[in-house]
Amino acid sequence: MVMFLGERRKIRRVDVERAPRLGLIRPTALGFRLTIRLHDGQTPEDYTRVLDKLAHAWKVHSVRLVSWKPGKVTLAATLVDPLEQVSIPVLSDGLLRVRAGLLDTGDPFILDFRTVPHWLNVGATQSGKSNLANALIVGLAPQPVALVGFDLKGGVEFTPYEARMSALATERAECADLLADLVGIIKTRMALCRQHRVRNIWHPRLPDALRPTPIVVLVDEVAELFLMADKKKEQEEVSAVATRLLRVAQLGRAFGIYLVVCGQRVGSDLGAGVTALRAQLTGRICHMVNDEETAKMALGDMDPAALVAARQISPAMPGTAVVIGSEGRWHRSRSVHVTEEQAEAAAATHAHLAPAWADLTATASPVTGDLDEADLSDFIPDPAASDDELSPV
Ligand SMILES: Nc1ncnc2c1ncn2[C@@H]1O[C@H](COP(=O)(O)OP(=O)(O)O)[C@@H](O)[C@H]1O
Ligand SMILES: [Mg+2]
Repeated sequence: MVMFLGERRKIRRVDVERAPRLGLIRPTALGFRLTIRLHDGQTPEDYTRVLDKLAHAWKVHSVRLVSWKPGKVTLAATLVDPLEQVSIPVLSDGLLRVRAGLLDTGDPFILDFRTVPHWLNVGATQSGKSNLANALIVGLAPQPVALVGFDLKGGVEFTPYEARMSALATERAECADLLADLVGIIKTRMALCRQHRVRNIWHPRLPDALRPTPIVVLVDEVAELFLMADKKKEQEEVSAVATRLLRVAQLGRAFGIYLVVCGQRVGSDLGAGVTALRAQLTGRICHMVNDEETAKMALGDMDPAALVAARQISPAMPGTAVVIGSEGRWHRSRSVHVTEEQAEAAAATHAHLAPAWADLTATASPVTGDLDEADLSDFIPDPAASDDELSPV
């Protein structure tokens, strides 16, 4: 009873309008940090709802809730937008990791394909999609990886980087063939993994000498892969492309094939294949877009604040985007400005590192039909299974 009365008294004291109990203000590189003790009955959510208002009240660029523990929240205020000027160089930051720019927290914006294997890079014309692709070329060119391009706009995007690419498809028929090669490579790598009873090419039990070369596949303007001028004639080709691309996305993580899919639109109007593909591309980069729908397609229906942030990207700051990476949280980001000439120079400098396509496909099984479902279930990670060894057959 006494406890009950105590609780009642506490509950009566709840009043979210009372002045917050502020801790010390600590300066940071970009502004300051502040811990606030919550009044009884308050939750961190009471603060996340008013971050915008706080930014205006404090006359700073933005306020974020950086952490919380029971009874306390820590807020970080940024005085000016760190994305205004991104002047760090692109960096190869370990195998299959590229530091492509900055996040609004001041942290690096890193694409780490080992953690997030596939990325969807969306934006209107002039929003900075190609710039990010250029940054990836600069970051990946010095690494022991193969680069593959799909560029159906006549090759204008990727042809300058052909020297460092192991394969480049610029027409639909070439795309279908190149994707068939990739599925063939997957089949060979699958056989290798089965032989060593591992679920992916990175398993330590696979001898280093046998570990296959990772392949990063860049797709420019994905809609072009799905559009049909002549429905009757092209239907078959388009559906072959869609199926193969989806297989690569589903099995890529296990067999070291990573996708960066760029596009202005990724809507379901392009066909069912696009929706299935989109679901596999868990890394999301949404540059400035022209409509709410496209932002939703790119970011999913996560935090509505992410959509608001995407809609607020100014055309005056190309390369700015909302990104969702590994932890499922969103950030504003901006890529380093990388011109086509810089990317072309990087590709030329490292041209000798491009594995020959013939070598990559030398042992690849010819594609006869699709992969079967049993193959998929063996190698698509089951979130419930913690171990990545295949059970003995
Ligand atoms: N991160 C960036 N910083 C500065 N300028 C950028 C950045 N990203 C892109 N730009 C500039 O914006 C323009 C459009 O970029 P681009 O990547 O070609 O857009 P998209 O491929 O989406 O049409 C280019 O002139 C480019 O130099
Ligand atoms: Mg472009």
